[in-house]
Amino acid sequence: MDRVAPRIALLLWLAGAAVSPAAAESPDQGADLTTRQEQARAAIKHLQLSLQLALGYAMLEAGPEGAIQTCNLSALPMTDEISGAMGAEIGRTALRLRNPANAPDEWEQEQLHSFEARLAAGEPAAAIEAVRQDETGFRFMKAIPMQDQCAVCHGTEVDPALQERIGKLYPADEATGFRTGDLRGAFTVTIPSP
Ligand code: HEC
Repeated sequence: MDRVAPRIALLLWLAGAAVSPAAAESPDQGADLTTRQEQARAAIKHLQLSLQLALGYAMLEAGPEGAIQTCNLSALPMTDEISGAMGAEIGRTALRLRNPANAPDEWEQEQLHSFEARLAAGEPAAAIEAVRQDETGFRFMKAIPMQDQCAVCHGTEVDPALQERIGKLYPADEATGFRTGDLRGAFTVTIPSP
């Protein structure tokens, strides 16, 4: 008995571990808001880590100018790939954009304005989220605060040579002049109704 019980416990734990990720990835339509919110947060974490790794690696290998190229070539394909894998549409958006392909729609724009107001009122950036569920589906946004390590490409004193490089790839760039703690943008997740 004392040998069997731990094995059963282990088997149950393994079964639970095997079942829960699948359940989280494909919630049925009746899935409650909490489940979907958790799914959206997991997708965001995944994208955030992938972008951070790609950016960090590119900065080490090729410096900011090379990293610009990496962001330019891989940010959108990466968001698409993660969207497919997570069963949700995920992306990044902002009020002041570098890439116009990341433009917010009406709901996203409203949330971004409200995020700015919440940040200005002292709410911690990590807690700033928005959620909506209606007949069109589920939507979720999470604030992206400006951090020190983003300044080289989004800050107030971007190196002129780098700025020129950015301008060639993104002629309509508006994504500089941010200070640490500003709202840089937001992650946005949509799970459309079938
Ligand atoms: C090496 C330069 C570089 C660094 C460092 C960098 N970015 Fe960017 N960022 C870019 C480029 C290039 C794009 C456009 C990517 C694309 O084409 O989708 C971008 C796009 C974005 C977007 C999408 C919205 C838009 O304006 O198109 C957000 C949000 C963003 N960056 C936030 C950050 C944050 C937060 C950090 C720091 C953790 C950071 N970036 C660091 C170069 C950089």
